[in-house]
Amino acid sequence: MTSYPKTSNLMRRGTEFLGSEHAILCGAMSWVSERNLVSAISNAGGFGVIACGAMTPELLDAEIAGTRALTARPFGVNLITMHPMLFELIEVCAKHGVSHVALAGGIPPKGSVEALKAFGAKVIVFAPTLALAKKLLRSGADALVIEGMEAGGHIGPVSTSVLAQEFLPALAEEHLVFVAGGIGRGELIAGYLEMGAVGVQLGTRFACATESIAHPKFKQAFFRANARDAVASVQLDPRLPVIPVRALKNKGTEEFTAKQREVANLLDSEGLEMLEAQLQIERYWAGALRRAAIDGDVENGSLMAGQSVGMVTEEEPVAQIIQTLLAESEAALSRR
Ligand SMILES: Cc1cc2nc3c(=O)[nH]c(=O)nc-3n(C[C@H](O)[C@H](O)[C@H](O)COP(=O)(O)O)c2cc1C
Repeated sequence: MTSYPKTSNLMRRGTEFLGSEHAILCGAMSWVSERNLVSAISNAGGFGVIACGAMTPELLDAEIAGTRALTARPFGVNLITMHPMLFELIEVCAKHGVSHVALAGGIPPKGSVEALKAFGAKVIVFAPTLALAKKLLRSGADALVIEGMEAGGHIGPVSTSVLAQEFLPALAEEHLVFVAGGIGRGELIAGYLEMGAVGVQLGTRFACATESIAHPKFKQAFFRANARDAVASVQLDPRLPVIPVRALKNKGTEEFTAKQREVANLLDSEGLEMLEAQLQIERYWAGALRRAAIDGDVENGSLMAGQSVGMVTEEEPVAQIIQTLLAESEAALSRR
């Protein structure tokens, strides 16, 4: 097997933490990161993560068991903090002894990190600011993912390159930090590793892998798209703080604007609670992504994709994608 000594050396703390051969995570992608893609990533030496998204505890139970049947290697589960059944989902992870759980979508609610640690899970968190990252790491989180606005799906306002400069010098020596957002080639992985990251997380680059169950039309849309087609959604109403989502421009982009208007009107007329309003928006996204990624309705569904989509030009097995990224990283480090 090909080895990548310089890259592996810089990833060592990350691979020790994940228990994988390479510290390359495939970030959870709702509907797409299910047993087939997750097991393929882990079997290829990366680290797959099941996207729980809006799944019920029963569905998550089946997905974890299904993934275990396809790989003996470690993988993680991504839970959304605002899921109304978060603690039941944590119990499902406990039942299966899931080794790594990522808490995404907001500040982990009280008791959630503790509940995960109680059964020995390693907890991965996301943090939009350095202060919050420090707080989460102090209160028991084991690793941090910083994710810039180049990424596909829900995004923050700051680019990966700026987050990396803010977070890595401050945290990388003492803590495990993975970098996500906009990574399409290994040269960039080499750069973040040199800055102290212990690994990286990619989504867009893996969404159209051969093993991904995404609909062929969804994959075609990715192969045709350029960076500038992956646009962030716009907030319509200042009272309704929706988290922006980066996706390929289509009719669904306009429908989201209409959906926001509808929910904002409900806030006015029916005294809808803000949390419920935000949940309605999140359910909209989950449904829209399913329509595009699973049903193949690429006109009206949501084609969540990051700016690295222009570097996704053909269907490739995940093992090949991982080897390409590692070879590019190794070549870059060898030129130094
Ligand atoms: C189609 C799609 C769906 C996603 N769904 C989720 C999700 O359900 N939960 C989550 O935490 N991140 C989600 N993400 C973000 C990825 O996990 C990952 O962090 C991101 O794609 C990395 O940036 P990149 O797209 O530039 O590679 C999604 C991304 C994409 C492209």
